[in-house]
Amino acid sequence: MTEFARPNSGGSAVDRDTLVARFEDAGQGHVFAFLGDLSESESESLLRQAQAIDLEQVAALAALAAETRPALAEIAPPGDELLRRQGADADGTGADERREWARERGVAMIESGRVAVMVAAGGQGTRLGTREPKAMFPIGPRTGRSLLAWHAAKVVHWSRRIGQPIPFIVMLSDATAAATRTFLEDYQYFGLGRENVHTPVQGSLPPLDDDGRLLMASRHAIALSPNGHGGTFSALADGGLADALSDEGITTISYVQIDNPLIHPLDPVFLGAHDLAQSRLSSKSVAKRTPAEKVGVFARVAGKPSVVEYSELTDEQAGQVDDAGDLLFGQGSIAAHCIELGFASEMAERGLPVHRARKKVPHVGADGEPVNPEAPNATKFETFLFDAIPLAEQSLFFETLREEEFSPIKNATGSDSPSTAAADVQSLFRGWFERAGLAAPDGAIEIDPEDAPDERTFREHRGVVDSEAEQDA
Ligand code: UTP
Repeated sequence: MTEFARPNSGGSAVDRDTLVARFEDAGQGHVFAFLGDLSESESESLLRQAQAIDLEQVAALAALAAETRPALAEIAPPGDELLRRQGADADGTGADERREWARERGVAMIESGRVAVMVAAGGQGTRLGTREPKAMFPIGPRTGRSLLAWHAAKVVHWSRRIGQPIPFIVMLSDATAAATRTFLEDYQYFGLGRENVHTPVQGSLPPLDDDGRLLMASRHAIALSPNGHGGTFSALADGGLADALSDEGITTISYVQIDNPLIHPLDPVFLGAHDLAQSRLSSKSVAKRTPAEKVGVFARVAGKPSVVEYSELTDEQAGQVDDAGDLLFGQGSIAAHCIELGFASEMAERGLPVHRARKKVPHVGADGEPVNPEAPNATKFETFLFDAIPLAEQSLFFETLREEEFSPIKNATGSDSPSTAAADVQSLFRGWFERAGLAAPDGAIEIDPEDAPDERTFREHRGVVDSEAEQDA
């Protein structure tokens, strides 16, 4: 796959004629087709945007779009880097003790102020199709609290518990920045303190039509899309955020995605396991529901821990099982990670491979009229955070339970939609009551994540203590 040094590298300022000539030479002159009809501010904005487009990169993307996909190198199941979630309590494997050990280490990391939380909220949410960014999507069953507030509340909990602020980084994109920043401001940063909330904007990459030409989002704007969750690394490094965090003593980023309400932005067991393994990039996994489930799986590629996209596994590989009957490639990625800050900076410097996907991209046609394609009409380009896994000297795959930590909101209806997420939030909370031997309230249950972001805290608050390990902790 083609490697790109750094998305969005831009260039030095040039005058209007030179800029237009450069675009014409590159076969992208149509970008300025409406220049004569634009207002002063519109043409300024278009020229500013064009100035930031790296035409060499556009040419490389066009070449990538036309490339035949290379065959994947030899793939094998993950090795020691996969930490399976062992069975129930007291199963004699020592798993509970190891979890407890990791938990203590993770709590110590949070208490010592080493950990910042990062929520990726730069996606366009095209499948969900709401006008507002996903961050603003209501998830609280009773309160209608937004996804962003939901995650923030869990961080507020921890920050109160340790008696100090925890940096909260919300990665945004050009598609989500303005609305999400206003939303944060309106809700007074959800009690986290404005100075502790960072909103870096990730880079973007232009979608291209089948002739490798830039698309126009309007007569005065070139269509751009966020550069994928791989943009996390440069979003941290650019503008000095990583340095500032490092100066504050942050070593580790706990990374989650905005559209998964079940995920723990701060999970001491995961953080502790990451630290004990001296991992530089750790990733949570859940058991696949079926061999054919469309989710990236953990594997070794050419001997290196990696994530393999579902489309790259043959049906035979997807169905292979070990002696115990478990799928060889049965651990799916849920895009939750612990990232060492120094590693993030290295990855930002290095750049990640760019992937392509055929998509429907609404745009403005040559006649200046809007086009809403019914079939894919363009190639979009993205980088993936998990492409950094094989580049880490040490990594960890950490199995967790789907019902506890994974119910993403991707689609408007059907699977992975607001209704499945709402149902999963309810069964999670019901499970907490049931296992604690308490009667669940009638109607929709909403446990304020600020009071109890996880089952353990829920039990502690209600005085339920049931295992020796918990009593000792
Ligand atoms: P997805 O790619 O699954 O969803 O991103 P999306 O972008 O929200 O929606 P679609 O694909 O357009 O329908 C998963 C998570 O990663 C974040 C998203 O905000 C979402 O939480 N993400 C994705 C980014 O922050 N930046 C990106 O460039 C892409």
